[in-house]
Amino acid sequence: MRAAAAEKGILFGSAFSTIYMSDEAYTREFASQCGVLVPEVELKWAALRPSPETFDFTRGDTLYDFASANNILFRGHTLVWENALPSWFNAYVTARNAEQLMTNHILSVVRHYAGKVTSWDVVNEGVQVQDGRADGLKVSSWLQHIGPEYIELAFRTAHQADPKATLIYNENWIEPDDSDSEKRRRAVLALLTNLRKRNVPVHGLGIQSHIFAEANVTGPNFRQFLKEIEDLGLSILITEMDVRDQHLPADIHTRDQLVAEQYRNYLSFLLQFRSVRTIVTWGLSDRYTWLSTHNKRADNLPVRPLPYDFELKPTAAWQAIQTALEQASTR
Ligand code: XIL
Repeated sequence: MRAAAAEKGILFGSAFSTIYMSDEAYTREFASQCGVLVPEVELKWAALRPSPETFDFTRGDTLYDFASANNILFRGHTLVWENALPSWFNAYVTARNAEQLMTNHILSVVRHYAGKVTSWDVVNEGVQVQDGRADGLKVSSWLQHIGPEYIELAFRTAHQADPKATLIYNENWIEPDDSDSEKRRRAVLALLTNLRKRNVPVHGLGIQSHIFAEANVTGPNFRQFLKEIEDLGLSILITEMDVRDQHLPADIHTRDQLVAEQYRNYLSFLLQFRSVRTIVTWGLSDRYTWLSTHNKRADNLPVRPLPYDFELKPTAAWQAIQTALEQASTR
């Protein structure tokens, strides 16, 4: 997949974790298939921040060293998110210290990896229309303690720490062709338009792409949205793709065909946009997918959302990714 992507000027990769490194067969397959590695948990606050005063880069560095030893690029995920915060966070954060806590974190982490990161997810999942704000922003602890300007501040601070870094706003649930997602798209577009107007250093939109096999994720509103994003001068990245087979029939062959068809369908659609130069799946094998705990099937059969199955055999999804890459135009 790495080679097929590279031929078209596209970077293919996946999330990875130090936890998987004891699995030699998986680690070897990862190194041969991936041109970029994204730490699945190691660069989140919960992993980096044992206490309000300290940083622990050990596991993040282990992943960086593994990537660079194998000639694999390294993506940063994620500087500001309301999840994966350390256990001390809620009792510690206040309106008085939140801004400094956030900017100090960004400065330290971005400086630590300066020159080593191909792109940073600076803010993750900042929109939540149901929270009821006119701007559609999520009422996270960051927003509550700093105000909506926390997003602009996060990007400016990351840029200050590493002026050459590519800075991404990463978002979920903006793919489906339904009214909830359309509201989310409008909020994301308004946010990014406003940031660009104010000359905030934001360079791209990460589309997580945790999609359901049966969902329509290639609708006209999504197409229009992607065009508007590119018109802002932003590039588009696929940052966390997997295809949920949660609602599909039990039969493995049927499931694999439908999952594969969604991979091909979605990737072919996205690859019509010339700024899409990064495709990251959220894991490579069904052996290690967050969906086995976060999105179980009602019949309790193991989920099959990724291009390799539990035995590390390529599935129909692997071929579908390959086909979408082969049919893509060169960037
Ligand atoms: C997930 C990890 O894969 C899990 O191991 C962890 O328990 C929870 O987070 N959107 C994101 C990712 O931006 O960071 C999440 O990763 C999946 C959803």
